[in-house]
Amino acid sequence: RRVGVLISGTGTNLQALIEQARRASSSAEIVVVISNRPGVQGLKRAALAGIQTRVVDHKLYGSRAEFDGTIDRVLEEFGVELVCLAGFMRILTGNFVKKWNGKLLNIHPSLLPSFKGVNAQKQALQAGVRVSGCTVHFVAEEVDAGAIIVQEAVPVLSSDTEDSLCDRIREAEHRAFPAAMELVASGSVKLRDDGHITWNT
Ligand code: GRF
Repeated sequence: RRVGVLISGTGTNLQALIEQARRASSSAEIVVVISNRPGVQGLKRAALAGIQTRVVDHKLYGSRAEFDGTIDRVLEEFGVELVCLAGFMRILTGNFVKKWNGKLLNIHPSLLPSFKGVNAQKQALQAGVRVSGCTVHFVAEEVDAGAIIVQEAVPVLSSDTEDSLCDRIREAEHRAFPAAMELVASGSVKLRDDGHITWNT
């Protein structure tokens, strides 16, 4: 399955996806990496891996619709069949999400539906939970609300700071996202029209 990865920054999740797609057993081939910000480390990671990159700078577009339209055109240019949002910090419009429904995955650094939105790790610390983690889900029009594919839990320690919790969750992300990409790329997991996950065991 031809995969496109959208990033905005360091790209540690991208790196995990690249290493997963390299495995002989993988059903995924990452064919393009698109960043909404120029010069970020994730672009260097893609180039080092021999993957084509594009920058679609959201600041150059008058509207979200135009920005999303350009992203869509690049994905079509590369024949992308599955899109992974890996640390991508833009909200995509409903039209884009509808078109890519069932082919658009996102990773969120909490056990959804808890702690939606930004600073999920900080929300978890402030809520005093003893367990948090990450969620890979299909993107739906409502933010952080799509059907869940993979989750991994991590302990929250009394000594945790936002940074230490972020680091522990990110390690879990680097296992959960590759696993979810494989499940969808191999056809083991699909999104049903009713918005629920179906497993083809
Ligand atoms: C991470 O904190 C992750 O939780 C969120 O995006 C942030 C950056 O990820 N999804 P990456 O290192 O750019 O993949």
